[in-house]
Amino acid sequence: MMLQDVSRLNNLINSILKLSVFDYGRSARRMKHDYQVHSADELLHGLIDEAIIQCKLPAEAVTIKGTLSQKCVADRSWLKIVIDNLFDNAIKYSVNPARIHISLESTPDEIVILFSDEGIGIESRDQQKIFNKFQRIDRPDSPSVKGTGLGLYWVRQIIRDHGGRVSVSSAGRNKGTTFRIGLPVYPVSKRRYINNLLKLSKTMQTQTDSYEE
Ligand SMILES: Nc1ncnc2c1ncn2[C@@H]1O[C@H](COP(=O)(O)OP(=O)(O)O)[C@@H](O)[C@H]1O
Ligand SMILES: [Mg+2]
Repeated sequence: MMLQDVSRLNNLINSILKLSVFDYGRSARRMKHDYQVHSADELLHGLIDEAIIQCKLPAEAVTIKGTLSQKCVADRSWLKIVIDNLFDNAIKYSVNPARIHISLESTPDEIVILFSDEGIGIESRDQQKIFNKFQRIDRPDSPSVKGTGLGLYWVRQIIRDHGGRVSVSSAGRNKGTTFRIGLPVYPVSKRRYINNLLKLSKTMQTQTDSYEE
């Protein structure tokens, strides 16, 4: 158990370190990117499966539906932080053992991830606030769980950096919560934007290579 805790803390520390660089230099030049063209289906199923194992969720706790045929441009390690945070929240903000429903869909322009839980829900007046830095919602009926109020702030920043968007919806208290993430499809939409991401990644790679030499 101690080893497992150490590994969980290690992951947390690594993501905090990575994200502090991210926050320090919103200037993309300072960040290390590894944007690649991915099969959206492989990428997302892979990240979801890893999170289920890491969170030790029983098989029946998560339903996943939908298959994607598109490609997207993504930095896998940044998207991992996004998916891990959504799982972490769904577990923390459920009173009963978490039940998570994930749906992978697409529109002509976007790959859409719908991530729902059956937890404590979020009232409409709080729904926009939760993406702010250090924002936590104080509710007497909220499970007493620890947090920093940074997770969803990072989620929004990372998704924006991928040219995508994130939103939340909930029918209210104890009615569960759904996060919707839209990522641009490659190469149909925002072609110039995602080509820039790929170029940026290559430049960073060259800079790192020459630095290491
Ligand atoms: N799935 C969810 N269900 C209900 N409330 C949520 C959920 N995810 C996030 N929240 C609310 O949004 C706040 C901000 O979330 P987050 O940025 O991940 O910070 P943290 O989890 O560290 O508190 C949480 O404190 C909680 O009040
Ligand atoms: Mg969180």
